[in-house]
Order: sequence, then C-alpha cells, then structure tokens
Amino acid sequence: MRMRKKKNAESRLLACEDYLLKSREDLLVYRDKMPLELEIGCGKGGFICQMARRYPQRFFVALEVSTSALITALETAKAESLANLRFINANAVHLPELFESGEVSTIYLNFSDPWPKARHFKRRLTYRLFLEKYCSVLTPDGKIIFKTDNRPLFDFTLEECAALSLPVTDLTYDLHNSSYNADNIMTEYEKNFSSQGFPIHRVVIHKKAENTVSQT
Ligand SMILES: C[S@@+](CC[C@H](N)C(=O)[O-])C[C@H]1O[C@@H](n2cnc3c(N)ncnc32)[C@H](O)[C@@H]1O
Repeated sequence: MRMRKKKNAESRLLACEDYLLKSREDLLVYRDKMPLELEIGCGKGGFICQMARRYPQRFFVALEVSTSALITALETAKAESLANLRFINANAVHLPELFESGEVSTIYLNFSDPWPKARHFKRRLTYRLFLEKYCSVLTPDGKIIFKTDNRPLFDFTLEECAALSLPVTDLTYDLHNSSYNADNIMTEYEKNFSSQGFPIHRVVIHKKAENTVSQT
C-alpha cells in the first residue's frame, strides 16, 4: 500500500499509544481475553475494527508494517474505545518473536501485496516461510483465512500450501456470490476491487490435517 506520510504522524501515534502493543509483555496483559485472532497487514483497519465490534468475546491483534496506514486504524479503535483490539507496528517476519507458539486461533490475510515479479516471490505473505511462521503461532486446530482479488497470488498460495501439505477448505473463486459470503466483512481493498467488478478469491488454510476441499 503506497501511502503519503501523514501529517503530525508522531503526535497522532502517541495519542493512541494505549492501542499499540510494543512488546511481548504488553500482549500478556490481554492473554486472559483468548481466543486470540490476528490480522496481518491490516492497512487502515476497516476489517479488524468491524471484527472487534461484531465479536466482543474474542480478542484481536492487527499487525501492520506501515505507520501511516496504522494511524487511521488506531484512531478508529480509540474513538470507539474498542477494548478487544490492539495493534502492533511490525513486519510479519517477526511473528514468532511476538507471539508464543500455539496461542493464535485464526490469522486473517486480506489482500496481501501480490509482488507480481517472479524474483520477488519470497516477499509474498503466503510464501512457504511465512506460512511456516504462521503455523508456529497457531493453535493445533488454528487456521489462516486468505482473501485476494489477485488470481496469480491465489494460485501461488495454493501451491505453497500443497508444498507444505497444509489442507485447504472453503475455497471459492467468487466469494461475494458464494455461500461463504453471509458473514463476510469487506476490507478497504475488497470494496475497491469488487466495485470495479473483480471477483474475490478466498480459502481457509489449516494447520492440521483435515480431509476435504469444498468448492463453490
Ligand atoms: C494491499 S494492502 C491491504 C490492506 C488491507 N488488508 C485491505 O484489505 O484493505 C497490504 C497491507 O499489508 C501491509 N504489509 C505488507 N507487507 C507486510 C509485512 N511483511 N508485515 C506487515 N504488514 C505488511 C502493507 O503495509 C499494507 O498496509
């Protein structure tokens, strides 16, 4: 996501710092609020804020490497006093240092940057080394829910899952016209791409073996 640097970024970040987790210890305060769900690359936070409103009994953490994008997300969470949502300004490569093994029940990857050039495949957030990091923090029955409009990235993701023998279910190439759409929350990118007529692809990736792949 290319974003212009936000005005007064530092003071705005400071004003919301109660919503920022800065260390592993900060997260421990919320551990009793399990199950813990995580979005990686939350952007401006529309999806994760709506999840926190809809599911007050779950605790959400959103990871975002871009400070500019994060400020909007933080300000929304603070304005609404969302008690079950916190943010981390960090790169997903650091995931295993931020979370304990087996403590995250669901990871959401929404419209991750596609990195279309072949030589950049290792930067894609569904590259196998990233998937392995996600699995290391997931509970045994944990899952990764991945949405994108980008078919090459979607196909790449399925290949990476196959390479790691990660089972996939609930696969659709057209989420908005599928049975999985009932409880779907649209992200900022999703609204944009879908308004341009692009179908949205979505799949659930499991940590442990399950047998079926259903498709609509
Ligand atoms: C294309 S945007 C999608 C934003 C949002 N999920 C949505 O669907 O509207 C991808 C986001 O992922 C973030 N991102 C990319 N690589 C990341 C990484 N390695 N760790 C954390 N965030 C990352 C970017 O800064 C950007 O905000």
